[in-house]
Amino acid sequence: MSSIQTVAESYQQFNPKAYLQNNYVPPRADFSSEDSVVQWKLRCLADACAKGEIGGHTLVDIGSGPTVYQLLSAFELFDEVVMSDYLEVNRAELRKWLTDQPGAFDWTPYIKHVCMLEGKGEAWQEKQKRLRERVKKVLPVNIHQPNPLGKEIRSGSVDALVSSFCLEACSPNMEALEKALGHITNLLKPGGHLLLIGALEESYYLAGEARINVVPVTEEMVRNALSDSGYTIKDFQTYIMPSTMKVGVDDVNGIFFAWAQKMA
Ligand SMILES: C[S@@+](CC[C@H](N)C(=O)[O-])C[C@H]1O[C@@H](n2cnc3c(N)ncnc32)[C@H](O)[C@@H]1O
Repeated sequence: MSSIQTVAESYQQFNPKAYLQNNYVPPRADFSSEDSVVQWKLRCLADACAKGEIGGHTLVDIGSGPTVYQLLSAFELFDEVVMSDYLEVNRAELRKWLTDQPGAFDWTPYIKHVCMLEGKGEAWQEKQKRLRERVKKVLPVNIHQPNPLGKEIRSGSVDALVSSFCLEACSPNMEALEKALGHITNLLKPGGHLLLIGALEESYYLAGEARINVVPVTEEMVRNALSDSGYTIKDFQTYIMPSTMKVGVDDVNGIFFAWAQKMA
């Protein structure tokens, strides 16, 4: 039976370049089609952030991996952004992009698209520069620890959390997932917001040599976990993965987006 330890071991083979290639270039990152998963994710995040309810001093992204797309709308609403990942290879990939090093992944199409959604006519380079300035730290994180970011980030000190494809992809079972959700929720101030994206009914994904087991969750399971952790759900959307985007790198059936607020 899988345990937190065996999940951690499976991540030792995780290859950031392969993961980016599997998920963040076409066909999954098809900016020409409004129905593509990438457009859907960015639209959900942009819509929630445009409501005028989310904002504050500190935004923390839990399990950032090697990706920054999940922050492109929300970071604008905070003074400081903290990114985090369990693996040093992913933190290194993030630092490469943040410091504009050769070989960094190209997030340009994502940044251009979010600028278009925001409709302010802003040059995408400005947003890119601002995000790079706003990210103050890239920290190690372990969602299975009661204090996932250690001493750096105290419980009850964070205004909002973003987390995409982390909880279900890093937990051996639903019980551990719910416990991990509780751990990250402890970081939030009462009334703080959570923007959560994840896979629906997925049992594994590939990232190079790594084959990672995933807890297959349904919409109902995610809704119940959020309520049990003390959230009010403000928005919940689901996306059914079309067959053109089933490219053999996982067995995902859909994606969920949840905007939830920690009860005061
Ligand atoms: C499926 S990836 C998601 C990456 C990115 N957020 C995205 O949207 O594509 C899951 C990430 O969780 C990280 N991770 C693995 N174990 C973890 C743990 N115990 N606590 C927090 N993050 C963990 C992995 O290193 C990986 O980057």
